[in-house]
Amino acid sequence: RVPVIAIDGPTASGKGTVAARVAAELGWHVLDSGALYRLAAWTVLDNNINANDIAAVALAARRMQIRFDDGQIMLAGQDVTELIRQEHVGNLASRLAPAAPLREALLERQRAFRQPPGLVADGRDMGTVVFPDADLKIFLLADVQSRAQRRCQQLRERGLVPDEQAVLADLKERDFRDTDRAVAPLKPADDAHQLDSSRLTVEDTVAAVMSLWHK
Ligand code: CDP
Repeated sequence: RVPVIAIDGPTASGKGTVAARVAAELGWHVLDSGALYRLAAWTVLDNNINANDIAAVALAARRMQIRFDDGQIMLAGQDVTELIRQEHVGNLASRLAPAAPLREALLERQRAFRQPPGLVADGRDMGTVVFPDADLKIFLLADVQSRAQRRCQQLRERGLVPDEQAVLADLKERDFRDTDRAVAPLKPADDAHQLDSSRLTVEDTVAAVMSLWHK
């Protein structure tokens, strides 16, 4: 049995960074499940698929040829690492994510990341749906203001000039869509440890996860 640490939480809670750092410390694999939803959104845009035709979206998602390669994400041989980070792609991902056929199409692909010696999986439903038997479940929270500041910082690092009010409004909208949906809504698993990172550095948060793992 290959061990799994599931790290779930809302947008911009720092899950991705924390998951990658924990995986590096343990020498485990990492699954950025949000990237799969972004890849599906990118595929829809790139192939002019009607986003309302959810059967077509799910089929296209099933057929995606993806390779995660040392921080690089390849789709059918093209490096899409930066392309799928664009705001409009993330926005469409968030709008497609409630669709059950799409989530179903991505399910086995996510489970296939569970390879020895272990997996750190980051997302919204890692501990509830994809890996309900995970060995450790973390629900990473942060208040919406801290998350908005982090998102703005990320945008600045990419050379963009963020509109702070727009970022805050967008976060609230994404929170609403993630928690309000019928299928795999964002919520802590019953056996999840809740961790509020609002006032923690990345190092502190990683240390907190590691100490829960070693307990
Ligand atoms: O962190 P951010 O919200 O920018 O996005 P992400 O983690 O890259 O995921 C993109 C979108 O996919 C999110 O807005 C979620 O709605 C959705 N998602 C999901 O529904 N389930 C997951 N396990 C991961 C992401």
